[in-house]
Amino acid sequence: MHTLQTAEALNDALAEPRRRGQRIALVPTMGNLHAGHLALFHHARRRADVVVASLFVNPLQFGPGEDLDAYPRTFADDQAALEKADCDVLFAPDTATLYPQGLENATRIHVPGVSEGLCGDSRPGHFDGVATVVAMLLNLVAPGLACFGEKDYQQLAVIRQMVADLHLPVEIDGVPIVRADDGLALSSRNGYLSDAERAKAPALYHTLCAMRDRLAAGEDQDTVLVHGHQALQEAGFTPDYLALRDRQLNPVTARTRQAVLLAAAHLGAARLIDNLSLELPAS
Ligand code: PAF
Repeated sequence: MHTLQTAEALNDALAEPRRRGQRIALVPTMGNLHAGHLALFHHARRRADVVVASLFVNPLQFGPGEDLDAYPRTFADDQAALEKADCDVLFAPDTATLYPQGLENATRIHVPGVSEGLCGDSRPGHFDGVATVVAMLLNLVAPGLACFGEKDYQQLAVIRQMVADLHLPVEIDGVPIVRADDGLALSSRNGYLSDAERAKAPALYHTLCAMRDRLAAGEDQDTVLVHGHQALQEAGFTPDYLALRDRQLNPVTARTRQAVLLAAAHLGAARLIDNLSLELPAS
C-alpha cells in the first residue's frame, strides 16, 4: 500500500491505473478504523480494481465546541488495518493541502433541502463541511465508485444529492451498518463512552427496533415517537431528535410505505446516531 500526502503524489500513483482504464474506488474516512469501515473496504475491494482510502479529520465539518480536538487519531493502527484490508493507496493529506486558503476562505458546497433538519439543525454547517471535503476528495481521486456507511444516513443522502446536482461522474454506494453483538452501531465516537454508558448504549438501537415493530403493526406514529423519546430518556440518553421520514428524508405522508427511523442522542460525552429502515402498513 502506498501512503501519500500530496495531490501530486496521488496523481502519480493513480496515473497508471487510470491509463489502463481500471476502476478506482474511494473510501473516505476520518480514521480510527473499526469493523464498520472495514465493511466499506471489503465492499470497495469487490467492486473495483484499485481501492483508495482517504484519512483526513476534516475541521470544516466540526462546529465550535464539537470534538475536533478529541477525535481519536490512530494513524499507525489505521495504516496497518488498511494494509490488511488489501487497500492499494492511503491518501492522508494535511489541512493545508486541502484548504490552502485556510478554512475561513475555503470555497464551500451547500446542498439545500436534504442537509436541513435532523443533524443539519443540531450541527449547523456540518453538512457544508462534509459536502466540501467529499467533493474535493472526489476531484482529487476521480474514482468511478465511492463508498459510505449507511449509519450516517443523512450524510449519504447529502452526498448523493451533491453528486447528482453537480453531475459528478461517480457512483455512490451505501454500505449497511455494522453492529456490535448487542446491537450498538459501530462508531469511532463509541470510544467516548464509559463502561457504564457502553452498557446502556444499545438501548438506542433497541428503542428503534421496538418503534419499528409498533409502526409496522399500524400504531399511531405520533404516539410511537413520543414513547420512543421517553424510552431513550429512561435509558439515560438525552435525545437530540427522533424522527420518522421517507427514505429520501421527506416527512411521511399517508402514502409512504418505505420509511426510516432516525435518531441522535447524547450519552455522556458521546453523541450517537443510528437509523433503521422499515415498511409502513397501508392505512
Ligand atoms: O463519515 C465520515 O467519516 C466523514 O464525514 C467523511 C465522509 C469521511 C468526510 O469527512
